[in-house]
Amino acid sequence: MNGPLEYWDSLFRDLDPETMDFSRSLPASALPGFCDRYLKKGDRVLDLGCGGGRNAAYLAGRGFQICGVDIAQGAVEFCIKRLAQHQLSGVFRQGTLDSIPFADNEFAAVVCIASLDHVTLESARESIDEIRRVLSGNGVLLLTFDPPDTDEDQIDDAEILPDGTLKFVSGDQKGMLFRRYSDREITDLVGEKNIISFDHSGNGGRTVVCR
Ligand SMILES: C[S@@+](CC[C@H](N)C(=O)[O-])C[C@H]1O[C@@H](n2cnc3c(N)ncnc32)[C@H](O)[C@@H]1O
Repeated sequence: MNGPLEYWDSLFRDLDPETMDFSRSLPASALPGFCDRYLKKGDRVLDLGCGGGRNAAYLAGRGFQICGVDIAQGAVEFCIKRLAQHQLSGVFRQGTLDSIPFADNEFAAVVCIASLDHVTLESARESIDEIRRVLSGNGVLLLTFDPPDTDEDQIDDAEILPDGTLKFVSGDQKGMLFRRYSDREITDLVGEKNIISFDHSGNGGRTVVCR
């Protein structure tokens, strides 16, 4: 069966941080400013959908207590090795956006970079509830979303699920989910009253900071 888990697992399974050049592995562009504005040294931060750890490594390097979660066990192992290689510490666990393996009120911030795009709308709603469960009372959430026309050239490889999410059924991205959020859907997802800032990048990406 080729579902999202198999797709993401296959991306990370064979990567070895020892043989990789991280000199051009930059954090998400919104992250430095988010840290300056909302975080203080030592804060506990969750990188949700941590992938290869570019954001987790940056956050750990800035002195935050970093935890990471990813659906792909390979990504979790990669991050553990990557941070250790750079004498950084962090706690990484396999889990999903809508079932986060950490306790209530644990984090001053959650960053979820280019990851909510990869679940269905129902799962995205559950994920926002889960994120709020693990955030402390005045905790803050950084979300980024890819441009809605991402992967336009490969659309023929996807079927459209009833909620509008694309599911790739052939080609290189077989098994991957991708949801093209409109600004309105993002606003509704997090709740308008909770939004602190909503920014558009030049390429159509969206960055949201909210409670
Ligand atoms: C586009 S990558 C972004 C990775 C990382 N945040 C970054 O900025 O480099 C999306 C990540 O989300 C993870 N992911 C996809 N679906 C997920 C889910 N349901 N739960 C947790 N992680 C998921 C993937 O394994 C992948 O690492």
